[in-house]
This record gives sequence, structure tokens and C-alpha cells, in this order.
Amino acid sequence: MKNRKNLKPINMPVFLSTTFVQDSPSQWGYSRVDDPTRLALENELAGLENANHGLAFPSGSSAVTCLVMMLKKGDSVLCHHEVYEGTQRILERVMNKFGVGFDVVDFNNAVKLNKAIKPSTRMVLFENVTNPELEIIDVAKISKLTKSKDILIVVDNTICTPIFQKPLTVGADVVVHSLTKFISGNHDVLGGALMTNDKVLFDKLKFIQQTLGLVMSPFDCHFVSRGIKTLELRVKRQTKSARKIFNFLKTHNKVVRVSFPGVSGIVSFVIDKNLNARRFLKRLKLIKIAQSFGGTESTILHPRSMMTLAKPLDHNFFRLSVGVGDPGELIKDLKEALK
Ligand SMILES: Cc1ncc(COP(=O)(O)O)c(C=O)c1O
Repeated sequence: MKNRKNLKPINMPVFLSTTFVQDSPSQWGYSRVDDPTRLALENELAGLENANHGLAFPSGSSAVTCLVMMLKKGDSVLCHHEVYEGTQRILERVMNKFGVGFDVVDFNNAVKLNKAIKPSTRMVLFENVTNPELEIIDVAKISKLTKSKDILIVVDNTICTPIFQKPLTVGADVVVHSLTKFISGNHDVLGGALMTNDKVLFDKLKFIQQTLGLVMSPFDCHFVSRGIKTLELRVKRQTKSARKIFNFLKTHNKVVRVSFPGVSGIVSFVIDKNLNARRFLKRLKLIKIAQSFGGTESTILHPRSMMTLAKPLDHNFFRLSVGVGDPGELIKDLKEALK
């Protein structure tokens, strides 16, 4: 047998070890604190957002939890009025028990936003683009409005992905991701991430993460890392297909309104009030009814029956996540269901 010592894996190996042999008692060696597979992914995640530091969590919700755990009694968080329902629940129904306040306002209204900022506001948290209505918020503008007030600016970049937007480069302090969506992209793993350039902030977040055990497992790290390899290919293809679908829906006489920000594979639309929402969903063959978005399969969500929303939405409103399949086939599927 030839000397195989120089075999170098092209992928980061998955290290299944919870404890690491220490040369002395003064070193670290426990995977809740640091783990080679997770550290490799965290470096990749930081790179995606041009950040100095990244942290990987078992879900997007646990990443948000870690973030808000930095706050103390009497502090409050201000969110855009359309914020992911899970994030809202963390603030409204969990953090409220610890005396952390929660307010919402339209971030696209500078006057209202200024008024909503209280002396207790320590964090503004918003998605750009928002879910499910796909509103666009100007990160640089929000950063200018709030920077002088010692408020942490947090942007949830799940829908846009770092391929289309890097919030840390335009004034955000922290970026949050649900890796469950576009970044892993294959509907097979839950995950979350925080990225920042601020070392002091990173150390605080890392302390909370390791103390509460909010860490991603090595196998899950592998799946996310595998997803990252095709992220750009997938989202560019999905966005191109979503544009074709947007152009089709825009001119369809049974479609009342359609939104497509052009920065991910998501299209939101409202169909004619004389069409039955459930019947429309049932008639779709290729596009599957599903809660999540951002993966290789095309999925559709009916927010009125599948989300708990703070804002009332039209009964015939849908959020379509365009997968990597043939856009012509997807248009055919929609055309048939709209008949
Ligand atoms: C914009 C956004 N942020 C955060 C989350 C929470 O992520 P997870 O489901 O991975 O906990 C979601 C989930 O849908 C989301 O859509």
C-alpha cells in the first residue's frame, strides 16, 4: 500500500467528539464551548457577511434568543411592524417575563420611528426584506437615524441572503439568519447564525451561547456548510425564475397585486376575491403547500391560515418560494390553478 498520510479531505470532516484531550488542565476541551466542525462553519458564515465573527445556532429562533438575552430588565426592543411571528413571540411572550419591553412601528415612516424610540430602547430589530409581505427597509437610513442613540441595529437577512445584501457594510451591528432557509437550502436542517464585526459584542454573545448551550450539532454544521457551497448558484437561479413568475402573475387577470423585490426567490401575490384560496392551493401540483421557504423545492404559504400575524392580511394573499425547478413548469402549474 502506498503512503496515504497526505490524503487531505476536500470537505471539513465532521468531528463527533464532545470532549477533547487536553495537554494540561488549564486548556478548554468541551464541544458546548468550542467544536472544530462548528468553528469551521462559523468562519464560513462570517465570511458570507464580510464579518469578523460568526456564531452558529441550532435554529434561527435560538440565534434571536441569544441576542435578546443580552438585554436586561427595563430595556426594550423596537421592531418593524412586520416581523417574523416567532421573533415576535420570543419578545412578547418570553422576554416580557424578564421585564424586557417590545414595541413595533413602521420603519419606513421616519417620523413615527423617531417617536417610537424610547430612552429604554436598546435594540432595533428588523428584516430586510420582510416576511411575508416583502417590504424593503433602507438599512443605511435606519442606521443613521438610530446610531447616535446607543441602540444596537440588528438586521435579519434571511430572505435577502448575503448574496444580495450585506447589512454590516451599511451600518448594522449584528446580522441574524435562519439558516433553515436559503443558506442551507435543501429543506433538511434547522439552523441559525449571528454575525458581527464588534469583538466586545461577539464575546458577550459567545458567553450567552455557550452558557445556555445554544449550539449547532456537528452533523447539522456539515449540512449547512454543504448548502453554502451552492448558495449563490441556487439563489441566482431562484431569483431569475421568480422574476419570470412575477412577470406572468403581473399580467394575469385573476391576480390583483404582486410583489417581487428582485433580491431572492420569493414572490407574494393576491388573487381575485372571487377565487377560493383553498381551491387554488389544492389545484397546484408542482408547488407544494409548506410553512418554510428558501429551499430547492417550490413551496407556497397561505399566511391567513398558516401564520399568526399582527397585521391583518388579505384572505387571498400568498407567499410563493420559487425553487430550482423549471420556471416554465411552475408558470404552467400556476396558470392551471388560477383557471
Ligand atoms: C425571517 C425569519 N427569521 C427567523 C426565523 C426563525 O428561524 P427558525 O425557524 O430557523 O428558528 C424565520 C423562520 O421562518 C424567518 O422567516
